[in-house]
This record gives sequence, C-alpha cells and structure tokens, in this order.
Amino acid sequence: MTSNLEAQLLALKEEAEKAIAAVDTLERLEELRVKYLGKKGDLSVLLGSMGKLPQQERPKIGAIANTVKEALQKSLERQRTALEAAKIQAQLEAETLDVTMPGIYRPQGKIHPINSIIDRAVDIFVGMGYTVASGPEMETDYYNFEALNTPPDHPARDMQDTFYLPDGNLLRTHTSSVQIRYMEVEEPPIRIVAPGRVYRRDNVDATHAAVFHQIELLAIDEGLTFTDLKGTIKAFLQQMFGDLPIRFRASYFPFTEPSAEVDLQWNGRWLEVMGCGMVDPNVLKAVGYDPEVYIGFAAGFGVERFAMVLHQLDDIRRMYASDLRFLQQF
Ligand code: DAH
Repeated sequence: MTSNLEAQLLALKEEAEKAIAAVDTLERLEELRVKYLGKKGDLSVLLGSMGKLPQQERPKIGAIANTVKEALQKSLERQRTALEAAKIQAQLEAETLDVTMPGIYRPQGKIHPINSIIDRAVDIFVGMGYTVASGPEMETDYYNFEALNTPPDHPARDMQDTFYLPDGNLLRTHTSSVQIRYMEVEEPPIRIVAPGRVYRRDNVDATHAAVFHQIELLAIDEGLTFTDLKGTIKAFLQQMFGDLPIRFRASYFPFTEPSAEVDLQWNGRWLEVMGCGMVDPNVLKAVGYDPEVYIGFAAGFGVERFAMVLHQLDDIRRMYASDLRFLQQF
C-alpha cells in the first residue's frame, strides 16, 4: 500500500515535469498548474487516499508528497520565467525598427504652373494691402457687361465671344465682373485682387483656350491718380518678372477711361501683358458710388499668358494636358 502510493506520487512528479517542460504558452502552463497542484488536482486526489494508510506510514508519505509539490512548484516557476522572457523577446523583435532599411520612394506632388503664378501674384498684391475677392463663374449679362459700361449694342461685345446659357445667363468672359459684385456690397476704400477662371468661345490653338484664368485688380478711393495705377503695375511686374522695361500704351476698354495696355520688354521684344485704366464714372454710378467723390483704377491680365512668358512655353494647351513629363519641370 505504502510503496504503491509512493510510486504513484513519483510517477505523478515525472509525468508533470515532462508536461511542464514541453508547454509553450503561459495559458497552457496555468492549466497544468491547476491540473496537478490545484484544489481538485491530481496531487490532492492522491493525498486524499492517504487516510487509508496506517498511522505510522503517514509522515513518510506526507514528506514525499511535500517534496513532489515543491519540486513541481519550482518547475512551474522556472517554466513561467522562461516563457515570459521568450514572450518579451518575441515582442521586441517584432517591434524593432531597422533604421538602415532603404526608404520607400514616393513621388512628390508639385504646384501647377497656373496655380503657382496665381499664388505669386496674389502674394505680391496682398503685400501691397490688397484683399482677395472672388465671384461666380456663371454670370448674368448685367455683371459681365452692362454694369461694366458695356450696353447690348456696344461693339466690345463683339470683341468677346461669349458662351450664353439656355436660361439667358452666361459664363463670365472676364474677372471684371467681380469688380461690380464687390463694390455693390462694400464701401470705399477698396483694394482687391480677384483671380478666377473665365470662358470664351475662342477657337483653341497654341495661344487660345476656351477656359483660362485671369487676375483682376481694383482700387477705389478718394484722390487716386493714373500715377498710382502706373506705380502699382510697375511694382507688381518687377516682382513678377524682374527689373525689365515696361511701357503704357493708350488703349480702349468700356469700363475704364482712360485705358491703357501694358507691354513688357522680354528677350528684346515688347509683349503685351495686361489691360488697365481709371475706372469709368459710369461703372461707379452703376454701383451707387458718387464719381465726384471716388475715383479708382483697375487692371486685368491672363494667368496663362504670364506662365507662357515666364516659362517660355510654346503652346497653351500643354498646361491642360496633364502630361507628367511637362508638369515635373516646374
Ligand atoms: N477685362 C479685360 C479683358 O478681359 C481686361 C481688363 C482691362 C481688365 C482693363 C481691367 C481693365 O480691369 O481695367 O480683356
């Protein structure tokens, strides 16, 4: 009886130690602890039968049981330490950052030449105290023509071939319409710069597009002079193109009087770069300003034209073709 129980205890120890050494997760290890040393575990069950032993044998078996229990506790503890260390090691390896690994190449985006010219021009005027303004691309005849001193039978309407919409509205042919919209809701003094998209029924070729961009300038105040206009334009063109010769040439626009076109000497040739003039009194009257009190100047220019001059482009259509070989050069 004694030796039988003793043998069972030793067999239990051997089996348990094998199982503990073979276990590879902490969860499984805990299951083994419960199985062998738990309240209803194998060791308890074996000791339960100790009651049947003769009194004098009990201390010996009790001592063996204690040895087995202590040995198993030690094995469990040793295995737990080993598994925890392995777990931390695995986590460290998974989280290691190899700073010597080559990076992943991602091509960098660039600003389109049209946007970059708009950004630069707006920055220059904002630096002179101007505020950015905008208006709708679908316009009424009133804002695009009539309020800009261009009545229905005015020859200037032939100069600009217009996209009319079925409802009688139109796609704005210039950003000058923003002048009217802004003056209608604001009071002088006014200094605005208004970039935007405009539309014309031009035949598309190397220098014409049906959709392009303009930047409009408007200043209204008391006592402004043509000299203020010239100084502003000169300061702007110098920052945009560098210190090149410019000249003002008398011209005609319905919404300015007098009107001028500005030429810039670029690579030895005079290039026309913008239209401008003193705001016509009829335009001021249209928005309810007293032309005896207020006077203003205005200017407008094409963004694509600036881009073509600055970047020496041969064809306006390249700017809309989304050809990366072209766009990557900027
Ligand atoms: N709106 C004119 C155009 O599209 C450009 C222009 C000329 C704007 C003279 C102005 C100006 O403000 O004063 O051709």
